[in-house]
Amino acid sequence: MQYCTPQLPNRTRGKKKKLVKPLQESELEYIDSLQSFEVRDSDIFLVTYAKSGTIWTQQIIISICELAGELNENPKNWNQMPWLEYPVGEQEYTTRPSPRLFTSHLTPALLPPGLKKKKIIYVMRNPKDIAVSYYHFSSECSHLETPTIAGSSWFDHVRDWRSNKDQYNILFLSYEDMILDLKGAVKKVCSFLGKNLSEAAVEQVVEKATFKNMKNDPKANYEFEPQQKIQGNFMRKGQIGDWKNLLTAEQSQEVDRLLQEKLGDLSLKFIWE
Ligand code: A3P
Repeated sequence: MQYCTPQLPNRTRGKKKKLVKPLQESELEYIDSLQSFEVRDSDIFLVTYAKSGTIWTQQIIISICELAGELNENPKNWNQMPWLEYPVGEQEYTTRPSPRLFTSHLTPALLPPGLKKKKIIYVMRNPKDIAVSYYHFSSECSHLETPTIAGSSWFDHVRDWRSNKDQYNILFLSYEDMILDLKGAVKKVCSFLGKNLSEAAVEQVVEKATFKNMKNDPKANYEFEPQQKIQGNFMRKGQIGDWKNLLTAEQSQEVDRLLQEKLGDLSLKFIWE
């Protein structure tokens, strides 16, 4: 996994840059070990680049599975839909009842090969809004001197997943679609997962997934999660286009140029255009 600093607003330039510490040997070994992780047909994976609406989509998938009577309630979403790349004990995963729910920020090559043809929900978001969201989030992380991004570049992440899509069974959603039509997104997820919820149950999922309700929902909001070493705020603004308040015109144009250069050939239709 690579670590890189984002293009940050001018006011942060000039400060001493500090990268997230590289992964330790044991963590790298753990990620390598995922190559032999046994995936079940019923497993459901949520894959995102960080700050794309991961915790929001987790809340939706978990609520759907709970209301479908397939998942026991649990006080923490983190426990119900853990990040596969964080070693919390593979043993625990092997004894989990199906359907197992997993979250990941990894690229296809780092995930278990057994994931091919299994159900994956991939959520994309305007990279300009991701940069701004990440900037605010990492500014709150006390162990970092300057805002920092962990993970591969957004462009590589999207390219890897889009160009390998035929090897997987993927539902692509966008943060923007979810903002504009949350109920429509919930229905798409239900249909993809094969969960036939009543209209009232769909409404319940939508209600639990509104920004206002999630902000006050200790199950969904990881703010005080002891396992959560980076104590940032996951429910910040929850809007489309906040980048306009922070990026300069030049920075915005640079992202547009990179979008064209790095993903232009994929004929992606982004709703934020
Ligand atoms: P902002 O920082 O732009 O507000 P992730 O979970 O991948 O870290 O993504 C965090 C982003 O998703 C934050 O964006 C957060 O506010 C937004 N988000 C979380 N829950 C949301 C919801 N219910 N509705 C809209 N946006 C939400």
